[in-house]
Amino acid sequence: MAPQAAACGSFPAEPLPLEAVRLQLRTWPEVESYLKRCKGVIVPLGSTEQHGPTGAIGTDALTAEAVALELGRRSGVLVTPAQSFGMAEHHLGFPGTVSLQPATLLAVLHDVVLSLARHGFERIYVVNGHGGNIATTRAAFAQAYGTAAARGLPVAGELRCRLANWFTASPVMRLARELYGDREGHHATPSEIALTLHLEPSLVAAQRPLPEAAPAGPIHGPEDFRRRHPDGRMGSDPYLAQADHGARFLDVAAASLVEDLRDFLADSPAV
Ligand code: NI
Repeated sequence: MAPQAAACGSFPAEPLPLEAVRLQLRTWPEVESYLKRCKGVIVPLGSTEQHGPTGAIGTDALTAEAVALELGRRSGVLVTPAQSFGMAEHHLGFPGTVSLQPATLLAVLHDVVLSLARHGFERIYVVNGHGGNIATTRAAFAQAYGTAAARGLPVAGELRCRLANWFTASPVMRLARELYGDREGHHATPSEIALTLHLEPSLVAAQRPLPEAAPAGPIHGPEDFRRRHPDGRMGSDPYLAQADHGARFLDVAAASLVEDLRDFLADSPAV
């Protein structure tokens, strides 16, 4: 039997309605009462950046938020609004990209964690949709721990932050390999595009096979990115993406992260 999540009681037997877990739709007395039984919270983190010639600019934010909300429904853990701007400096050669510099994103995430910690949240679970956010997010966590201690927040000794990249969860990568093989590539991947097709009916699948994408390689800045990858893809074939694949990716990602979240919530230094 799966261990109970110590910081959050037990998970619901059936997924909760979406509105029950969206922090935006709750009142402060509801959050105060939630904190008496659960110290966990989920923060979706995306990016607003080009996703090849056929993918939506908001792909990383749409996918992170969808996975986070599905995870919230299955766990009963509240989900904050998505942080939809990420560190996308290397994508700025393509119109529509909006990037936070690493120091800016670090400050944003630090302040998000400190705000939540101040009210008693002890387990901050960040569901990330963009590889470019990873280093900065880890740095933000390190800084937030230091600040929580320096400010003498009551939760400082219990504060834990975890970064969960939905697209690198083992079952997600297995499914991507099964469906797309090495056509998955590294950016504007068919798996993430499939998820957006599932989430947003106005988006249409690419109608023709795309030319071969340049393989992944070192990137030294926005101009270098666009020169090496003129249509914005890195070794991927988003033509293979289908909406029904997206539904499977959402299910597999949420199922995988719900177990990770359960372990995270149960982690206690007192044991
Ligand atoms: Ni992406």
